[in-house]
Amino acid sequence: MHAMENSEFLSSCNADTIKLAAHSLINGNLVAFPTETVYGLGADALNSTAVARIYEVKGRPHDHPLIVHVSSINAVDEWVSEIPEYAIQLARDYWPGPMTVILNRSNIVGDFITGGQNTVGIRVPNHPIALALLNSFHQLGGKGVAAPSANRFGHVSPTSAKAVSEEISEFLISSDMIIDGGECHVGVESTIIDCTGDTPAILRPGAISEEMIEESAKMKINEKSIPSDIRVSGMLAKHYSPRSKVILDITPVAGQGYLALSNIETPPGVLRLATPINIEEFARVLYQSLRRADELKLQSLVVQQPEGEGLAIAIRDRLAKAVNGR
Ligand code: TXA
Ligand code: MG
Repeated sequence: MHAMENSEFLSSCNADTIKLAAHSLINGNLVAFPTETVYGLGADALNSTAVARIYEVKGRPHDHPLIVHVSSINAVDEWVSEIPEYAIQLARDYWPGPMTVILNRSNIVGDFITGGQNTVGIRVPNHPIALALLNSFHQLGGKGVAAPSANRFGHVSPTSAKAVSEEISEFLISSDMIIDGGECHVGVESTIIDCTGDTPAILRPGAISEEMIEESAKMKINEKSIPSDIRVSGMLAKHYSPRSKVILDITPVAGQGYLALSNIETPPGVLRLATPINIEEFARVLYQSLRRADELKLQSLVVQQPEGEGLAIAIRDRLAKAVNGR
């Protein structure tokens, strides 16, 4: 395929863009769109040919399941065979929001979404553009939009349209789109909660914390280790990796990049990538800092990990995987 201008796919957003994008999805094309966590690469979740293109564009193995995005809790029923009471409560409390629930699938859900598993991941994202797109898609008869993070497999998730474009433009075709909705507010992917058991289990930490889940579900989280038949690509040791080598919790030396909370000083000659003032901002700038290190062709960057619970756990989880490199 010949190299295309990145800008060819980028659409700044207005009501017409959303309508066009919804039609484009219905017609089997790919649409990358912003969510509050990271940008997703969307396709009609009932269209196996369109979904196959997601795997192609990402370079992702076929047995890694995709999350189905819908506009409201009312659109979930069709996708699942049963929902435990605690999962309904989680959905009421945290949707739209940075939470994905894993439930037993209904018979409309193809193996091409679940990697052959009997469960399906569902999320209602909390972003005006994502919600408008999903609503518009539902109005045209669409049932759900499958969307992984819009990066190449194993690489850093994109938190801006420009980052999406850099990741996947060369693999898109002219009828695909990237909707520009600015920077993502949360910056790390949704919390994934397995709701197929008697109690919820966290498969991927995110902005919806353990405490928030226990408070809403009114039960303790299941600490069981993740069953081996659940394939979560984010669980692979090597993931979320920039090209620059990521080193954790040392004092950086001249020539290295540095990401740390703003109360920590920058040693001489070190290239400060960001100075987040709190954990929320740390999460928001994490992936853009990893990308910036690559842009600057830094050989290595040091990250001083934030301490604490909640979102800090998600940040440390992603960094542990980024460390393993490509
Ligand atoms: O914040 C997010 O969740 C973003 C935005 C775009 O919504 N999406 C995202 O998708 O991070 P992805 O595909 O990059 O990561 C979703 C993870 C994958 O690791 C996948 O294996 C896991 O969710 N997953 C999906 N369905 C699953 C299922 N049925 N059982 C277990 N894991 C599942
Ligand atoms: Mg991903």
